Amino acid sequence: MENSDKALNTGAKRVYDVAPSEMFAEFMKSGWAPTPLTGITQDEVVSHCVRRRAELSAAFTGVRLVIPSGGPKQRSNDTDYLYRPHTAFAYYTGVQGVEAHPDSVLVMDPADGGHTPILFINPRSTRDTSAFYTDAKNGELWVGRRFTTDEAAQRYGIEVREVAELQKFLKNKKSAALHGFDELVDETVKEHPRAAELVEFVSVARLIKDEYEVAEMQKAVDATHRGFNDVIRALPAAVATPRGERVVEAAFFGRARIEGNDLGYNTIAASGSHACVLHWNRNDGDVRNGDLILLDAGVELDSYYTADITRTLPISGKFTPAQRALYMLVYEAQKAGIAAVKPGEKFLSINRASHTVLAQGLIDMGILTMSLDEIMDPAVGLHKRWTLHGVSHMLGMDVHDCAHARAEQYRDGILEVGMCLTVEPGLYIQPDDELFPAEYRGIGIRIEDDVVVTEDGCLNLSEHIPHHPDEIEAWMASLR
Ligand code: GLY
Ligand code: MN
Ligand code: MN
Repeated sequence: MENSDKALNTGAKRVYDVAPSEMFAEFMKSGWAPTPLTGITQDEVVSHCVRRRAELSAAFTGVRLVIPSGGPKQRSNDTDYLYRPHTAFAYYTGVQGVEAHPDSVLVMDPADGGHTPILFINPRSTRDTSAFYTDAKNGELWVGRRFTTDEAAQRYGIEVREVAELQKFLKNKKSAALHGFDELVDETVKEHPRAAELVEFVSVARLIKDEYEVAEMQKAVDATHRGFNDVIRALPAAVATPRGERVVEAAFFGRARIEGNDLGYNTIAASGSHACVLHWNRNDGDVRNGDLILLDAGVELDSYYTADITRTLPISGKFTPAQRALYMLVYEAQKAGIAAVKPGEKFLSINRASHTVLAQGLIDMGILTMSLDEIMDPAVGLHKRWTLHGVSHMLGMDVHDCAHARAEQYRDGILEVGMCLTVEPGLYIQPDDELFPAEYRGIGIRIEDDVVVTEDGCLNLSEHIPHHPDEIEAWMASLR
């Protein structure tokens, strides 16, 4: 539905070109019953946000911090993509799910040796304005009722003001901001010597997950498990439908929207040799009995915690001997990767453990003829022709979480209790790879689980999603 008085598109902003008549405007202001919101409660996350902000405050004493939620992303004309706020904004405010709206901003204003957090929002457009029916972006007859500043203050437990006041509030004050997400913030806040440190800090802050976060991760994994069940049930329809990969993608997406906020990332539904294309998001292939399908998908909850799970399934319900042989190699490599996850171990040990098994497997199959030591020398690494990608990454509110951490804190760092990460080795034999016997060509396999580092190793949050070929065949049979 277009804005009825002819929406003018001016970049990201939309405006009315025909103002309502004065008589109509007056008429629209009257005759409405009050609609206060009562019984506003705080989500569990709010108490965590208080602690998170205290940690942020302590690291930036005396520095005004500006963390925008980000503007809308235009798809075309007056149609935007589904909105998702900047992860740091959600992490420090607790504003999440359907309550998140574009152009909100968290300001941490220095005060009394600490900071006063102030949340700037577009509040509800009340009936004494014309915005509630003319503003297609924020008006509540267009997009639904939002909180007043008072209601938001109750809900999130912090001071809330109208975002219309933000520019004046920030003008001529030195602040460190997350840049590149909000035009107004970028215009108003000049570069600050500690801005880069802020980017890093808010990313690193999420490296260690607390109990609440691990519980959210478990919920995301469990919802994703149900999404994988949906896909297995949909496989006969996928086989019967042209571009059946879309049937698979759609089945999972339904679960993501029903139980969660969205997908944590674009689903990879890769049947047959498409599995050898790592980011196969086109999902426009047919789904054929006798092939495997690699499904890499995750439900993102309203709290934005997301799972990132891959299973490689035989479309018919039964693995062929060649599929099973390659699968078992990845299966053993994943077990070795998971066994390497423990506090004090290097992050890169996970990679090394899985790749050592895969490289040895390639030697045992006669594909690689050098010794294991030679192959595993970083200057050689010939196995990577078939393994292609790293085996692990941090996971949380972003699928590739904590991406702005420095190398020594993450990639070259040491595992600590509470870190949440994936273990996802794969083996991909391109269809035109003449180094492998013909029966293996075009097979791509990845197994991906989500684990959290514990005192004595790790807890596999997705342990209950079947891994072994026998368990997978039984799982699929039980859902057919
Ligand atoms: N699904 C993206 C990844 O596995 O990293
Ligand atoms: Mn992953
Ligand atoms: Mn994945």
